[in-house]
Amino acid sequence: MQDQLKRFQQRVHNQLAALLTFENHPHVPQRLIDAMRYATLNSGKRLRPALIYAVAEALNIPLTQVDKAACAIELIHSYSLVHDDLPAMDDDDLRRGQPTCHIQYDEATAILVGDAQQTLAFSILSEDAALSADVRLEMIRILSRTAGINGMIGGQMLDIASEGQNIELALLEQLHNMKTGALIQAALLMGAAASPLYAEIKAPLAELGKTIGLAFQVQDDILDIEGDTDTLGKPQGSDLAADKSTYPKLLGLDGAKRYRNELIEQAQQQYRQLPFASPFLAQLIDYIGQRNH
Ligand code: IPE
Ligand code: IPE
Ligand code: MG
Ligand code: MG
Ligand code: MG
Repeated sequence: MQDQLKRFQQRVHNQLAALLTFENHPHVPQRLIDAMRYATLNSGKRLRPALIYAVAEALNIPLTQVDKAACAIELIHSYSLVHDDLPAMDDDDLRRGQPTCHIQYDEATAILVGDAQQTLAFSILSEDAALSADVRLEMIRILSRTAGINGMIGGQMLDIASEGQNIELALLEQLHNMKTGALIQAALLMGAAASPLYAEIKAPLAELGKTIGLAFQVQDDILDIEGDTDTLGKPQGSDLAADKSTYPKLLGLDGAKRYRNELIEQAQQQYRQLPFASPFLAQLIDYIGQRNH
């Protein structure tokens, strides 16, 4: 699995590096391009692009048809991290093993970096000559919905509003589904959007995406307690310091781990019911539950 993951990580990195050049954006201040490269071209795991490539490859969609989708989802995700780390939000100073964007540059630059990453994501999708207009529109639809108020943004608002509160488990699940699950679900759907089978596999892929997205954030919560800052590349204990609503807070550490394991098992069952096979996708599902950063 690691070789395949590295191949996809390298692929999306090269694509992003080619997009974010001063030559491509000659009127943009060098500082903004530099800060965008800083916040994008780093040691992110590139899980969402890898999921897009995994699904596309399994469905025999040429990877050139999903390169822009892979870049777009990573731009949206990277933007969410730049803003998530801001002093007004989680106020963290380490991300992907380096100072956060607002520490390395400044707050105004970090806000603009996130804004620019977000708009660039939709711009490159809308201009992707490798896709039909219908597929382009579907990808933009998926990404805008999952990154927006009913997805990541709404989830981030719930996350902030839940600090210091004792919320119900059902609300915590909704929060996690929105802030993290939605974008992971989007990756599976975007990977399949160009397939003739799309209409048929959309619903089961969305179900699988929901399960692995939730599992991913439960593990993120667990790692905030059990991980170490060097391996995580972000500060261990950030959730505890802010008294965030997390699975370990509601279920205890062992309860959170049991729930994570159940979700991974459920995801493997959902994967096996799909009308196509991708051993790499099955391995990625296990990796989501076992990862240490
Ligand atoms: C971290 O995401 C934030 C969450 C949504 C949990 P990742 O763990 O995918 O972060 P990177 O991209 O590898 O840095
Ligand atoms: C992040 O959740 C979700 C986003 C939309 C960025 P966290 O706040 O738990 O992510 P980390 O732990 O800082 O990466
Ligand atoms: Mg946060
Ligand atoms: Mg955070
Ligand atoms: Mg976290």
